[in-house]
Amino acid sequence: MLTESSAPAVVTAVQENVMVVRIDNPPVNALSQAVRAGLLAALEQAEQDPAVTAVLLVGQGKTFIAGADIREFGKPPQAPALPDVCNRIEASRKIVIAAIHGAALGGGLEVAMAAHYRLALPMAKFGLPEVNLGLLPGAGGTQRAPRLMGAAAAADLMLSGKHISAKAAQAAGLVDQLEQGEDPTAAGLAYAKALLAQGAAVRRTRDFTVASDATQKAAALAELDALAAATAKKTRGLFSPAKIIECVRAAIELPFDQGLALERSLFVECLSSPQREGLVHAFFAERETTKIPELQSAKPRALSRIAIIGGGTMGAGIAVAALDAGLPVVMVERDEASIQRGQANVEKVYDGLIAKGRLTPEAKAATMARYTPSTSYEAIADVDLVIEAVFEDLEVKKAVFVELDRVCKAGAVLATNTSYLDIDAIAAATKRPQDVIGLHFFSPANIMKLLEIVVPAKVSPDVVVTAFELAKRLKKVPVRAGVCDGFIGNRILAVYKQVADFLVEDGASPYEVDEAVRQFGYPMGPFQVTDLAGGDIGWATRKRRAATRDPQARYVEIADRICERGWFGQKTGRGWYLYPEGARVGQPDPEVLAIVDAERQKKGIKTRSFSADEIMRRYMAAMVNEGAKVVAEGIALRPLDVDVTFLYGYGFPRWRGGPMQWADMVGLDKLLADIEEFAKEDALFWQPAPLLKQLVAEGKNFSSLNRA
Ligand code: 3HC
Ligand code: NAI
Repeated sequence: MLTESSAPAVVTAVQENVMVVRIDNPPVNALSQAVRAGLLAALEQAEQDPAVTAVLLVGQGKTFIAGADIREFGKPPQAPALPDVCNRIEASRKIVIAAIHGAALGGGLEVAMAAHYRLALPMAKFGLPEVNLGLLPGAGGTQRAPRLMGAAAAADLMLSGKHISAKAAQAAGLVDQLEQGEDPTAAGLAYAKALLAQGAAVRRTRDFTVASDATQKAAALAELDALAAATAKKTRGLFSPAKIIECVRAAIELPFDQGLALERSLFVECLSSPQREGLVHAFFAERETTKIPELQSAKPRALSRIAIIGGGTMGAGIAVAALDAGLPVVMVERDEASIQRGQANVEKVYDGLIAKGRLTPEAKAATMARYTPSTSYEAIADVDLVIEAVFEDLEVKKAVFVELDRVCKAGAVLATNTSYLDIDAIAAATKRPQDVIGLHFFSPANIMKLLEIVVPAKVSPDVVVTAFELAKRLKKVPVRAGVCDGFIGNRILAVYKQVADFLVEDGASPYEVDEAVRQFGYPMGPFQVTDLAGGDIGWATRKRRAATRDPQARYVEIADRICERGWFGQKTGRGWYLYPEGARVGQPDPEVLAIVDAERQKKGIKTRSFSADEIMRRYMAAMVNEGAKVVAEGIALRPLDVDVTFLYGYGFPRWRGGPMQWADMVGLDKLLADIEEFAKEDALFWQPAPLLKQLVAEGKNFSSLNRA
């Protein structure tokens, strides 16, 4: 080592004529201002040092560079800008090599693509995930990626936001050399030496062409158009994908500098879009939900074997999620026929994957080897965690927990997947309430990411931490919730679902409500969701609540009239919609409209029309108002926990950030004014949340509580 100097976050050292430039900005080497300035300084230093013949870029820690510093978005830009840093790297007169051993994402891959040569180690991964943040690669990535890997492949990387392996990156043309090992400095120095020995010259990506003649251009454009058409459905409602395609088109058609200028202007447009704000909020929110108070004092319990009680819709889905995570699973059902049905439910998932060519029969057999069916509770005596998923009936569940208390080893975590029931009451059925917790999975449980971890009064903190550990193992997004009817998600759902019913009784058709909700960005409207889940589920809940319902409260009976006919949705061929011959997309049903009309007339309602805008103002006001109550009561730790619940459990459009973030962006004063206006029609239902009033009075928004 000849010389050593350091800049904040970037450290340089000259080793055998190669300047090693180490990016050291934990936790993920994001390209903060200090890193950008450090990289520029290092390049200047290398250029001026006659002893240096090559520059090697490496990342410290597990990551190469995870991209731009997302925390800087929305703040005033600070020089040097990342595109300028990348251009400076590319312009270097001494060869620059990037040695990549971990994630090279977004701006991180753009830095690598600006280098002249790229080496990857096996754990490296590559991606341009800016689209997930409402952006496009804005440091030359839209121009350099097509030059290295072809226009369609580059556009696919940018539109999907996917990560690819080192091997795939090499096959695609992003990586020149693949080496074994974990030390990017050693591998990079060896590669630099070999390049220098061969007399390798500076090789600038900007000098490559995507298509060099008219025929190639036409072919590249046709491929790009085909890709754009194929991804249109997935990117519906998003702002940046069309801009990405525009940039890639420029990479095919225009000189490099013009392409870069277009990229710059479209990047700035994306950066100032509300979608960027919503998506960046979602990025940080879903990481924040794991930061729970119990972590300060507790460690997770051992978790190597689990049991599931009940092999119906949920039990089987949870079993698949656990088996896929490599956990051995014991399934307990009430009798031989049920346990066979439970196993068939599990196998059906794997057989579906085999039919689609996504799983081999051997892999299924290996997974099912971890699965043990039983009709006896004795089979679960030694498991670390049990998830009960039997019928939604307090007495049935209590009886199950008495059995669990009898057979399970001391210290086993006893969880219930109840959707609404009082978990304190379930815990009280055992002599060990400190071990009882709620694990509320969503259907289908092997696919849906959300896991509400419901914390009853007497549970021990290490059980809560164990539940979060389980979520991580199952690759779920956990949200901590308190005990109440419906916890975070279903409690709020019950309120805005009522608004949907009010709207229908007052004059909107269910199809107009669904359409407005879809236009807002949801994949489905509330009546379509009811038809998918089964109208009988909500009906049972309404009947259960009938005894405690406030007689003064408005109650819409239309759904009951539909359920009384046995119209439970898709599974019965009709519900709010008609599903002729097993169709999955429903058709409006004139008979449903007749039922709606009859109910309106029965109540003497004078109907009126509702615009899509008014439908959504009412729907969202109800959602956010109840969300504010849930936060104030401590059922959700912070507004962001409500947001993540809705993003991952209820199809809320991610680019809006979640209901509470949406409310902040609309303005809480506007929302409160709407609620006060609606209260003139129904003051009992539209009671503004005290927290909402308080925030408006203080001129604050929900995000001020996220930071607390
Ligand atoms: N900027 C700022 N902070 C970041 C960050 C980034 N780019 N990437 C991750 N972080 C933070 C996370 O918020 C988290 O902080 P916390 O500990 O305080 O919660 C911490 O780093 C660790 O992140 P993860 O929990 O996600 O760690 P993992 O090991 O699970 O994953 C990762 C690592 C794969 C790098 C993942 O963090 C990731 O995907 N990061 C984002 C990558 C990305 O989107 N890059 C593109 C940025 S936009 C861009 O580059 C624009 C350019 O084109 C101009
Ligand atoms: P389901 O009716 O499909 O399955 C219940 C299973 O439990 C049946 O297979 C039944 O044989 C079994 N069972 C009943 N009593 C039993 C006992 N004493 N011992 C062992 N097994 C017994 O019901 P589903 O939909 O799977 O719901 C289960 C639980 O999950 C309920 O508490 C429900 O509220 C909750 N849930 C349901 C969701 C859904 O969308 N279906 C979503 C989230 C939670």
